[in-house]
Amino acid sequence: MPSVSGAETTIVRGRGAEVWDESGHRLIDAPASLWYCNVGHGRSEIADAVAEQMRTLAAYSTFQHYATRPALALADRLAELVPVSDPKIFMTSGGSDAVDFAAKLSIRFWQVQGREEKRLLVSRGSAYHGLHGFGTALAGLDFNRAGYSGSLPATVRVPTNDIDSLGSLLATDERIAAFYCEPVIGTGGVIPPAPGYLEGARELCRRHDVLFIADEVITGFGRAGAMFACERYGLEPDILLMAKGISSGYVPLGAVAVSGNVAEPFWRSESNLIFRHGLTYSGHAAACRASLANLEILEREDLVQRVSELEPRLSGIVSQLSSHPLVREVRAGVGLLAGVELRNSERAQRVISGCYRRGVLTRQLARSTLHISPPFVITEHALQLVGEVIAESLDQELEAHPLTAEEMHEDH
Ligand SMILES: Cc1ncc(COP(=O)(O)O)c(C=O)c1O
Repeated sequence: MPSVSGAETTIVRGRGAEVWDESGHRLIDAPASLWYCNVGHGRSEIADAVAEQMRTLAAYSTFQHYATRPALALADRLAELVPVSDPKIFMTSGGSDAVDFAAKLSIRFWQVQGREEKRLLVSRGSAYHGLHGFGTALAGLDFNRAGYSGSLPATVRVPTNDIDSLGSLLATDERIAAFYCEPVIGTGGVIPPAPGYLEGARELCRRHDVLFIADEVITGFGRAGAMFACERYGLEPDILLMAKGISSGYVPLGAVAVSGNVAEPFWRSESNLIFRHGLTYSGHAAACRASLANLEILEREDLVQRVSELEPRLSGIVSQLSSHPLVREVRAGVGLLAGVELRNSERAQRVISGCYRRGVLTRQLARSTLHISPPFVITEHALQLVGEVIAESLDQELEAHPLTAEEMHEDH
């Protein structure tokens, strides 16, 4: 906090893939804010839909038998879209809510099957699953878990893309209820799956009675070049988590799709089992209208197809940076998601400032990685500019701060 106090960057306006700060400086929004502004900024169609809903009925509870038309319509729409078998939809206020919902449901699911021992949740190294209670416990970025030891639910970590570690854990520990997995790790530094990893992990979960939870908070709604990354990799998760692109961030919203099989014990007519969970704003009418308008744009403008067309362009642009002496690794190749890993965090911060001055807004992810996940409406020209501006800012950084002896040593 001390580093930002009095040094805020205030963003005041946005249009398409660009935003403006308070001084009038125009910027390409390379991360689409926090991965979410998929349809781009300034869509009055979404604003109008929300305004109309707010004038009619801003929100009403969806507890018990209550419902609103937008909530019902969105639940139906999501059920059509998700690659989940016979899905039930639960709505939340964001991604962390969805993560925690899935944790509670997984534990309860096994309990009602008489498998009390299955309460342990598994996640991957470098994973980010939000920062509520269960999400903090699931953090694969250790700094997000630090300070809460002893106060968090029980979780286990497996190395990021190592199928053998997951296999031996699931084969030997009967306590595992669910495996959480971002198809492409985002906050951890944009880490795509190793070939075959996701498919293998899905199969292992099936074999060992472990629920496979796809955290598609970032990858959902087209970001990975398919409506859901699970489709791209031929996966059918037991539970799928959504947020961000569900509304392109116009209004906070998240959702969970639960397979009919996992929901069934709680829906059986003769059962008196209750999954006791609910949020005040679950199914918020105006938020659901925003999402419906957002999904309409996505479809009408064929933006998921646009992401797959831009995917090789983005990969090409960032791969040109890979030979720069300050770049450790570039990671791309899945949709509009890319990371440029630099030698260290201080250098990354200075490069980010250089980019800002040159009209490109980016930010730092874990592993000193520059974040690139632009709105789907970004032009090829703007994408090219992002690459050029990063390259210029890297050159400037190298000139001002040449490689140290230690850094040169790292290369050998
Ligand atoms: C993969 C993933 N899961 C969950 C979350 C948490 O979502 P929220 O910040 O909306 O609570 C995030 C947020 O960045 C995320 O990237």
